[in-house]
Amino acid sequence: MITPHGGKLIDQVVKGKVRDELLTRISSLPSITLDSWGLSDLVLIATGAFSPLQGFMNQKDYLNVLKDMRLANGMVWSLPITLPISKQLKESLSIGDTVFLKGEDGVAYGMMDIQEMYEYSKEAEALFVFKTLDKLHPGVQKTFTKEDVYVAGPVKLLQFPDCFTRDFLTPKQLRERYTELGWNTIVAFQTRNPIHRAHEYLQKTALENVDGLLIHPLVGDTKQDDIPAEIRMISYKILLDEYYPKDRVLLSTFPAAMRYAGPREAVFHSLVRKNFGCSHFIVGRDHAGVGNYYGTFDAQEIFSEFTKEEIGIEILKFEHAFYCIKCATMATTKTCPHDEELHIHLSGTKVRKMLKDGIMPPEEFSRPEVIEVLINEMSRDS
Ligand code: ADX
Repeated sequence: MITPHGGKLIDQVVKGKVRDELLTRISSLPSITLDSWGLSDLVLIATGAFSPLQGFMNQKDYLNVLKDMRLANGMVWSLPITLPISKQLKESLSIGDTVFLKGEDGVAYGMMDIQEMYEYSKEAEALFVFKTLDKLHPGVQKTFTKEDVYVAGPVKLLQFPDCFTRDFLTPKQLRERYTELGWNTIVAFQTRNPIHRAHEYLQKTALENVDGLLIHPLVGDTKQDDIPAEIRMISYKILLDEYYPKDRVLLSTFPAAMRYAGPREAVFHSLVRKNFGCSHFIVGRDHAGVGNYYGTFDAQEIFSEFTKEEIGIEILKFEHAFYCIKCATMATTKTCPHDEELHIHLSGTKVRKMLKDGIMPPEEFSRPEVIEVLINEMSRDS
């Protein structure tokens, strides 16, 4: 099985007696309240999805990640993983404090040993991570609404928030499943959208050469007009039932927040999937992109800044995929000689509008079973 990033799978999930004992300190220790993004980072750190990170980043790692896409020890890491708190809260905390990490529901989900608190520049962070200061970019928007101080230190997870137990397998659990299934090579597919036929084409082309496919949809925070994760999950299950070989595909959630950082997020997504035990990772067109902020293949080209050994997981790069009327099959610009007029491809914006209006996109674009679920669920939702 592939070695986790940094050589060792981090496991900071505390259970049983140790956990009960820690919880007895709840009335005597201060606490920090995490939003859904913070909770998601907490779970992903503690379960080893973000190995080698053991906690929220200190300033040295943070600045190094911004400037060089590496941790202070030189290991590749492309996105900051940080916990923002207000200046006011900072005044009430001290270095060396142990704090409970609570959800907005008041439940103590984790603990943290505070090693550092530092101020940061939102402009610099946005420019390095997103390459723009445009507030219309959802990642930039989010950056500028964050509190002003980052608090850093190792974390422990005391219990999983409910939403993280549904269809979620930890890196350790997924690795165990692969062993049970006898899979040595596994390709991971990241998505924040319903699976359309271009996605399916990429996945199945990759699956021709590996033992198994992990469909690993991101189900953490996304921008408002993305299709909600619960609805997407129903559509994935129906699609898998109807069109995928049962013994060669696993569906499990990736409960991370979507950053929309394009190329940098592609690197992050790949390292994290390595931690989930996958040997291959698909990067297609405009991976983790939004609007026109990144070039169509920037998220593929960024990998040339690192050696293969540094990344560790094999990146499967795909050209733009579509249905070609003349070929009468799915294809990419690499395999189809015909003009664009013969290609059926719809933009995400166009599809969302069609779904809202109850219009079925063509079968060449999406499996009808998926569209039916989306139209039904979205009309129920609104
Ligand atoms: S993402 O934000 O999660 O990257 P999306 O769910 O649309 O968005 O894409 C999932 C993966 O499929 C990404 O690797 C993306 O590059 C790839 N992809 C999506 N559509 C196409 C397409 N038509 N051709 C090639 N690759 C695609």
